[in-house]
Amino acid sequence: MHGQIRTAVVGTGSYLPEKVLTNADLERMVDTTDEWIQTRTGIKERHIASPDEATSDLATQAASRALESANVEAGEVDLIIVATCTPDMLLPATACIVQHNIKAHKAVAFDLEAACSGFIYALSVASNLISSGIYHTALIIGAETFSRFIDWKDRSTCVLLGDGAGAVVLRATPKSNGLLDFYLGADGGGAEYMKIPAGGSRLPASHDVINQRLHYFQMRGNETFKAAIKLMSYSTKRVLKQSGLSIADVDYLIPHQANVRIMEAVAKRLSLPLDKIIINIQSCGNTSAATIPIALDQAVQEGKIADGNLIVLVSFGAGLTWGACAIKW
Ligand code: ACO
Repeated sequence: MHGQIRTAVVGTGSYLPEKVLTNADLERMVDTTDEWIQTRTGIKERHIASPDEATSDLATQAASRALESANVEAGEVDLIIVATCTPDMLLPATACIVQHNIKAHKAVAFDLEAACSGFIYALSVASNLISSGIYHTALIIGAETFSRFIDWKDRSTCVLLGDGAGAVVLRATPKSNGLLDFYLGADGGGAEYMKIPAGGSRLPASHDVINQRLHYFQMRGNETFKAAIKLMSYSTKRVLKQSGLSIADVDYLIPHQANVRIMEAVAKRLSLPLDKIIINIQSCGNTSAATIPIALDQAVQEGKIADGNLIVLVSFGAGLTWGACAIKW
């Protein structure tokens, strides 16, 4: 527990673009099969933003829905953090565009880039700013439009990712429930595992880098796969230990949705039954920083999560970054 004031999730929301790209569609685009994608990843379909939608549009929809579910006015929001690695532009921050769209005029707004772990990192930053009494109400959004950064000719990555956004409203709470604790980690020694090499200061945009397709997402799948299982299992155990809890206390684990085989392996390592793992990868694919808040919102909408439940969010992604958050709902 950080500081004296506890924080709680008081509303959730999510948005998935209307267009659905199925495995059958991908069979017509690259040398792949529905059978390979489903057995190797668990994914059946993913949502793709329309040409006029960018990350801030997805984030705005999710944010508006989260505010509505929390019954909080945009004008009451003090802080907006958008966790994304696919922002509208390198600058300004996507969070500023969202702040303007929803008319949260008094809110401080910035983006946080920790790839797939961005949402948990952002939750931790916001929770600490609320716990220390600086802010009262925060809007934390995970939003990605990965379809714009995928090499649609690379079958090893294009079948995995999708677009979407999820959001939560965080507030100080007088109750004993809420966000119990966080554990975060990073290892830049693994920076080569997943990257978008060009478009930054190292390799600025040029005809040459575009011809070499260096402005697209690249991943070393096998190394990533093993590290994800190890670090998500460890992070879950670690955050529970910090909170004085054990695996037996967990009602739901909401892991980053990168591959159903990773989630199953994590469940096995933790001796956690599969019905305690929230899985929606079959219909959303990997939406990076957005997977956890989308899965959380869907679980709330479906009435799965009850007051008093112990929820653990856990993630792993480019950086490398990883982290977990224990929540008493
Ligand atoms: N369709 C058909 N065959 C394919 C496809 C495809 N879409 N993609 C790869 N293959 C082939 C490969 O070419 C290889 O063929 P070969 O044996 O003839 O060389 C074979 O399938 C096996 O490839 P592997 O890479 O060994 O397959 P694996 O079982 O490891 O699955 C995958 C690949 C799904 C990418 C897996 O490694 C994975 O999920 N990795 C982790 C992803 C992850 O956690 N990412 C983190 C977050 S992402 C982010 O931060 C944005």
